[in-house]
Amino acid sequence: MGFNFLPIFTFISLTLVAGHAAVSPEAYWNMVLQNTPMPRTVKNLLPSEGIVVPGRGLEPCNLGGPRDHDYPWDLYYYISYTGNVYEQPVDYGSTFFLEEDIKQGTKMKLNVSVITQTNGVTFLPRQVAQMIPFSSNKFLEILNRCLIKPNSVEAEIIKEAIKCCERSSFQGEQKCCATSLESMIDFCTSMFGKNIQAFSTELEKLQEYRISGFKKIGRGGRDDPVVCHKLNYPYAVFYCHIIRSTETYMLSLEGADGTKAKGAVVCHKNTSAWNPKHLAFQILKVKPGTVPICHALRQDNIVWLPN
Ligand SMILES: *[C@@H]1O[C@H](CO)[C@@H](O)[C@H](O)[C@H]1NC(C)=O
Ligand SMILES: *[C@@H]1O[C@H](CO)[C@@H](O)[C@H](O)[C@H]1NC(C)=O
Repeated sequence: MGFNFLPIFTFISLTLVAGHAAVSPEAYWNMVLQNTPMPRTVKNLLPSEGIVVPGRGLEPCNLGGPRDHDYPWDLYYYISYTGNVYEQPVDYGSTFFLEEDIKQGTKMKLNVSVITQTNGVTFLPRQVAQMIPFSSNKFLEILNRCLIKPNSVEAEIIKEAIKCCERSSFQGEQKCCATSLESMIDFCTSMFGKNIQAFSTELEKLQEYRISGFKKIGRGGRDDPVVCHKLNYPYAVFYCHIIRSTETYMLSLEGADGTKAKGAVVCHKNTSAWNPKHLAFQILKVKPGTVPICHALRQDNIVWLPN
């Protein structure tokens, strides 16, 4: 138990000794990204302001979210790049659509997982995150710190997340697993500089929405986004990568009951290397490499683009 808290307590003593030298994730955002509004997805994952609450998000090791459908990120997406045998997900609603569908009045039944609760999972301040190993070589040490039994479901989840981060890049992919908000910010500013925007899908409930407005993001749609996918992990860890030949849209959505929502959508312009059995091709009845294929991002994804 004491072992588990060690890094947190060390952080607190460092904070006390160093005064204000240790900056909270939120303060780091405000310092580096002065002109970038923080998306709700990030806000929901901030630790309480000030000193880190001992154990929050770490003890009991918090694995948040339902187990099923909790792939590191959207299954179909992963499959398309690895060329694995395709497995049809149960029901993704109108997950895939064509770019021409992005217009006022289009109705879409968005079924991106509604993840508004984070189950106590938060970002750790970078100083703390850096003291906790994140590598398959240190697997047993990680389990120890999180008080997780080897061979448990939780251990398997941790193993999967780390494996996903250690897997080699797709051709042309630039990626980073950010174990803190500060490293996510650093990765994205290293790509785009500090004049940058961050977005997420924001829905209150699953229902049919109508597009009431849309906007192409990223200097007129010329820029490829960095998309960060939250991994299932005891604290907030994101898999971030830049996705080439991709256009990004923000949709303003209106539910049948008047509820407003925001949809972050990416359109992949070059699908010629995708697995021909990809669900998107079956749903849209198009062939690889012919037309851009669009899909909404899950609520726990963050998309970054230059202004
Ligand atoms: C959304 O998708 C999940 C799993 O893919 C499914 O179980 C659920 O019924 C879907 N919900 C709606 C409203 O389509
Ligand atoms: C599309 O992707 C394929 C395979 O990755 C590549 O060979 C081709 O040059 C790309 N096309 C364009 C227009 O970028």
